[in-house]
Amino acid sequence: MPSLNTPQLLVSFLIFLATANFPSNIKASTNTNDVYQPCSDTKVQKSDGFTFGIAFSSRDSFLFNQSQQLSPCDRRISLSSLNSQLAVFRPKVDEISLLTINTSSFFPDTYGGYMVAFAGQKYAARSIPAFVANSTYIVTSFTLVLEFQKGRLQNLYWKRDGCASCAAKSNFFCLNNQDCAIKTTDCKNRGGSVDCSLGIQLAFSGTDKHLAVLNSWYEVENLRQYSLYSLYSNLRDSLTSQYSNLF
Ligand SMILES: *[C@@H]1O[C@H](CO)[C@@H](O)[C@H](O)[C@H]1NC(C)=O
Ligand SMILES: *[C@@H]1O[C@H](CO)[C@@H](O)[C@H](O)[C@H]1NC(C)=O
Ligand SMILES: *[C@@H]1O[C@H](CO)[C@@H](O)[C@H](O)[C@H]1NC(C)=O
Repeated sequence: MPSLNTPQLLVSFLIFLATANFPSNIKASTNTNDVYQPCSDTKVQKSDGFTFGIAFSSRDSFLFNQSQQLSPCDRRISLSSLNSQLAVFRPKVDEISLLTINTSSFFPDTYGGYMVAFAGQKYAARSIPAFVANSTYIVTSFTLVLEFQKGRLQNLYWKRDGCASCAAKSNFFCLNNQDCAIKTTDCKNRGGSVDCSLGIQLAFSGTDKHLAVLNSWYEVENLRQYSLYSLYSNLRDSLTSQYSNLF
């Protein structure tokens, strides 16, 4: 991925680099959301596409004046001039999706090791920075919840399971009682054999602009953290063979 520049400029390009993997049986339905930039405001309904970004950088890069966390869209934190990368996704509202970021030529620890999910400008929403990797550990599996009120994105947050899914699994290390990590030395291109691409399971909660309730969140609650991976046979072979004993 190229360096983060002005978000406006890079979005259309990066949208092709950061691929969202959807199950193939999705029925075509009508998109009414014409906003394709993550740094713009919009209101969505079920079946719309919704564009948001994930920025990778150091935790401090997301802070204004070393104290206030701002959206990567906010020009007061000039992420573009710092060591950072941007990925842009456009999942369908209220459909559980698994987003993947291939790490064969992008290793998050070289870009500060943290990521923030974000969208919006005047109504800017951003997640807290999530630890992804340092030189010792990498966390490859995440669940991100996008919470809407009347179709407007209010909040993005990382859903964690307190390491329940990796407890007692020998290749995994539980970091800070919340993240299941593997050693970076187990990763391909780092001396190991594991594909350490990132998988981000998405879920939607709240209401759309017609006040219809977004339900995919409840489905994820009922799924185990890694359960969606088993739906993606192409990933199961590469990304998640190391997780196969979790299914
Ligand atoms: C930055 O933080 C310092 C110390 O907390 C404060 O005195 C200063 O006013 C802040 N600057 C801005 C631009 O907010
Ligand atoms: C990597 O992160 C883990 C978990 O926060 C920490 O214990 C470890 O000291 C870090 N290693 C380096 C080299 O920063
Ligand atoms: C990442 O890209 C490499 C090289 O193109 C490929 O071999 C690997 O299967 C990809 N991993 C995933 C999870 O798509």
